Amino acid sequence: MVTVRAPATSANLGSGFDVFGVALDRPADVVRVERADETTITVRGAGSEYVPEDPEKNTVGAVARALDAPAHIAIDKGVRPSSGLGSSAASAAAAAVALDALYDLGRSREALVHVAAEGEALVSGEAHADNVAPAILGGFTIVTPGGITRIDASLSLVACLPETVVSTRDARRVVPRDASLDELVATVGAAATLTAGMARDDPELVGRGMCEEIVTPKRAALIDGYDAVRDAARAAGATGVTVSGAGPAVLAVCRRADRRAVASAMIDAFDDAGIESRAYQTRVGDGAVVYE
Ligand code: HSE
Repeated sequence: MVTVRAPATSANLGSGFDVFGVALDRPADVVRVERADETTITVRGAGSEYVPEDPEKNTVGAVARALDAPAHIAIDKGVRPSSGLGSSAASAAAAAVALDALYDLGRSREALVHVAAEGEALVSGEAHADNVAPAILGGFTIVTPGGITRIDASLSLVACLPETVVSTRDARRVVPRDASLDELVATVGAAATLTAGMARDDPELVGRGMCEEIVTPKRAALIDGYDAVRDAARAAGATGVTVSGAGPAVLAVCRRADRRAVASAMIDAFDDAGIESRAYQTRVGDGAVVYE
């Protein structure tokens, strides 16, 4: 039997649509696997009623098939589905690492990222690895067709999750299919600034580098109360605010000393809009961890 904890993640960070991701120190999914002739799945925990136990429909079933590693797989969800915090990626990442250890397959962590991305394809309709890469590798990750670059970071973050649901499929439908040269130039500048900020653990640079005007405004429009939450977080000290992944979670970067105030301000702003929320005071954290 092998047990693996894989963290929530936040993809895009504004300027890195489908490219950037960070592992969050918390929340996390815990997946336990035992050898079996056929794959079976049980799910409990946060939002488990929305997660199918049919191996044909669950991300971890796709991972078991890709690795040819049938198992009884027990998923304990800490990351709520359709949250924008990489819920399916956390399960897929944990399952990939756990099954690799269970069957002693010896795949590299980078190879397991690609396996877990196949599980993701089942949920979003496309295999993109911007959540599974940080869920497996930890830190800040840059996923490109040429490979994955990882930067160690420990920046303070707040992820505020409203009690509303935005499906990844819906959130991908609103993404514009074209952009002007000016918008692309601005996005490249922001992405470069953010990357430098991650390398220096500098919340000002990361916050400035989160700004992006092609995808984020369309996604933000799907989240009731977003503008007020962003403004409240900034007033409380956040250096940058953006939609976490496909939403509805909202991600703020800040100094460690401002984290509590930023979290309260975001909860209060959602509350003023009539929406309950919870805020995770977190930081950029580690990837999947194996507990044998
Ligand atoms: N990059 C993806 C998106 C992450 O924003 O649609 C969500 O899975």
